Amino acid sequence: MRTPDLSTHYLGLQLKSPLVVSASPLSKNLSTVRRLEDAGAAAIVMYSLFEEQILHESYELDYYLDVGAHSHSEALSYFPDLDHYNLEPEAYLDHLHNIKQAVHIPVIGSLNGASPGGWIEYARKIEQAGADALELNCYYLPTDLDLSSAELEDIYVELVTAVRSTIQIPLALKLSPFFTALPHAAKRFVGAGADALVLFNRFYQPDLDCEALEVIPNLNLSTSHDLRLPLRWIAILYGRLQADFALTSGVHSAPDVLKGIMAGATATMMAPELLGQGIDRLITIAADLRQWMEEHEYDNVASMRGSMSQRSVADPAAFERANYMKALNSLDRVLP
Ligand SMILES: Cc1cc2nc3c(=O)[nH]c(=O)nc-3n(C[C@H](O)[C@H](O)[C@H](O)COP(=O)(O)O)c2cc1C
Repeated sequence: MRTPDLSTHYLGLQLKSPLVVSASPLSKNLSTVRRLEDAGAAAIVMYSLFEEQILHESYELDYYLDVGAHSHSEALSYFPDLDHYNLEPEAYLDHLHNIKQAVHIPVIGSLNGASPGGWIEYARKIEQAGADALELNCYYLPTDLDLSSAELEDIYVELVTAVRSTIQIPLALKLSPFFTALPHAAKRFVGAGADALVLFNRFYQPDLDCEALEVIPNLNLSTSHDLRLPLRWIAILYGRLQADFALTSGVHSAPDVLKGIMAGATATMMAPELLGQGIDRLITIAADLRQWMEEHEYDNVASMRGSMSQRSVADPAAFERANYMKALNSLDRVLP
């Protein structure tokens, strides 16, 4: 049998495999980015340029973090170590340009924001700096009692529409799982111009220090267990929207990648696994993937995609509420 073909298409880009590096500090250094390419990364999503950075470029850092913590909690979460990030928007664009010169694989810029405004201009600047596509990470934390979920979705639609009309390159929308009716919201976002949905963003969940009476801002890294949430939703949405799906959250191994593809993802993104285990982990994961495909006589990734989506499995209800009771009852056997 021929060596299995791992190539895939994501956002109209030809990728040598589904193994994409997600937005993270891994794109901070040119030397790291080159090593990622050498180890087999199919594409790299750059760490984000935040709306707050663009709007408050000239503010003192303390002020920025303080404002960020209250208005867009996620922003703070991505700055566990500020040395990993460039705070200057122009420096971000320069770095993106330099990365494009340094590697041959596609480079996806990342813009992170939540409110319509002038910062969206940076989508064009990211395109001009050479990005092959743009990932728009929208995360609006709704704390207003008078803001309905429909109004919240309107904000997202407005953002996607604005960014779409600003750039020519493909646009991916990275979302959190917190939508009341995700399929309908996803349909609206794709209708507004998202070429791909990146599911799901992990986000900042503050902890409480009961002794110091302080809120502790930290970000726990994922495990493979976190895969379940995006897996289910990609499986449910696959084949029903004119969009690609990228799976982010909990991708740590070849089985995780396989599950993502079979649910319907075109790209599976990872960062913590590479931060923790080293960049060469990519080589092992690709080898494990090929070996599994050989053993199970799959020639290519395309033939596996969506094979375990809700449309294809023998028991579609397994993804839905119908299976909830069954799952709960299955625990009866462990009753003391
Ligand atoms: C240290 C760190 C920094 C991150 N920075 C960004 C960022 O700048 N922009 C973004 O959209 N996501 C960012 N993320 C989120 C990741 O891209 C990814 O979507 C998320 O961590 C879920 O995937 P995982 O389970 O592989 O961690 C960051 C994650 C980590 C752990």
